[in-house]
Amino acid sequence: MTMKKMMIGMQLGNGYGAQTLAWRAPHVDPRNYTNPDAYVRYAQAAERGKFQFLFLPDFLAQSQQSDQDSPMLTMDPFITMAVMARETEKIGFVTTASTTFYEPYNLARQLKTLDVISGGRIGWNAITTSDQASAANFGTTIAGRDARYGRAHEVVQLIQALWGSWQEDAWIADQKSGVFADLAKIQPINHLQGQYVASRGPLEIPPSNQGQPVIFQAGGSPHSLALTGRFANGVIGSTYTIEDSIRQRSNVRRAAERAGRDPDDIKFFAGISPTIAPTKREALDRRGQFVEPLIHHRIGYLGMMLGIPLTAAELDQPLTGQQLSSARANPSDPRSDKALEIAREGWSVRDILYHGIIDYHPAPIGPPHLTADHMQEWFESGACDGFWLNPDIYEDGIDAFVDGVVPLLQQRDLFHDDYDGDTLRDHLHVPYQYGLSEPTNAA
Ligand SMILES: Cc1cc2nc3c(=O)[nH]c(=O)nc-3n(C[C@H](O)[C@H](O)[C@H](O)COP(=O)(O)O)c2cc1C
Repeated sequence: MTMKKMMIGMQLGNGYGAQTLAWRAPHVDPRNYTNPDAYVRYAQAAERGKFQFLFLPDFLAQSQQSDQDSPMLTMDPFITMAVMARETEKIGFVTTASTTFYEPYNLARQLKTLDVISGGRIGWNAITTSDQASAANFGTTIAGRDARYGRAHEVVQLIQALWGSWQEDAWIADQKSGVFADLAKIQPINHLQGQYVASRGPLEIPPSNQGQPVIFQAGGSPHSLALTGRFANGVIGSTYTIEDSIRQRSNVRRAAERAGRDPDDIKFFAGISPTIAPTKREALDRRGQFVEPLIHHRIGYLGMMLGIPLTAAELDQPLTGQQLSSARANPSDPRSDKALEIAREGWSVRDILYHGIIDYHPAPIGPPHLTADHMQEWFESGACDGFWLNPDIYEDGIDAFVDGVVPLLQQRDLFHDDYDGDTLRDHLHVPYQYGLSEPTNAA
């Protein structure tokens, strides 16, 4: 019997790494932000590891927070994907694009073009955009959820209808008879006039090798779950504990069932943000380079997580017995339990912070088996169908994972040895789709 295997996606942002200070690492070219060769190198490294896809987050506003940070996003995800797709063969690319601030016709066209030219390797993370800075770039403000998600449902359907408007057998390309394409099979979609958006169509683009792009979602609100349940095949999750991830994944699966779909057709990806090095000490010091410039701000926050006052004077000591006995994990931050567990292991306050306990995702820090163990535990507990990896520094962090963690996962029969298909749908084991999603009982 073949065991179900996990899938791996990888976050790809600015050309440096998921850590905001990755651009300052001595072996990183600080001008990679604008260097397409760097993005291609990272995509190829991920493909060498047989990752199912790269995930490109996107916001429509400035992402640099201070003079010391780099931007967190690519200059433009569509164009970056086109460059990477030309230099890779198998790996998929999932980009984030706003249902609020793009017109459906533009988005349908760009995504399907990418899907065709990449050989069917594109996914779309359909988010509604909830930050005001993005809205300001369009001279507006963020609407309430009902309006944002109302528009999102229409935009996704309109885009799917446009994708399907060039029927699968419309293209004849017969030089002898002189028929290029059967226009009766490339027809307008007029009927889709909604409350928020409309488009006549057709869209003059034939099917890709996977029909059309795969839809992803990222969110968690009931509104977002309804959109996911109806249309998505993948969810980029944000979960810090195994219990929370199990809960979020089952919410997604229930949303699929409510929409009359098979829950296995939506894959849930948990974030992971490892730092990998031969020894624990080396890994802590590598991670520490990102923490050190911020450490004085972080001490107070750690104190809040543990419910005890902490100051810079205590940085290089472990917590005292008295501090440990009065420490309590702060229930308002789900990362606090982990912080307390590490504190109890006797690390200094500085090293507790070097463990990445204030990062967005769980952070296994040490030799490769620690990351593999984390992934195995989460996957076997049903907390996720796979992971989206946030490498600390792309330049060598992807290779450290591919050479250290991937072979362990393969030996444990948890991750595939090779791609078993050519398209993103093949990689994700989700059905072929062309045109509109089946009408469901949520429609
Ligand atoms: C893991 C994760 C990744 C996300 N990535 C993006 C992103 O790249 N761009 C974006 O504008 N919003 C992103 N979001 C934000 C969500 O799409 C959504 O706006 C937010 O969760 C609030 O949505 P709500 O109005 O449904 O609560 C992300 C959310 C999560 C949980």
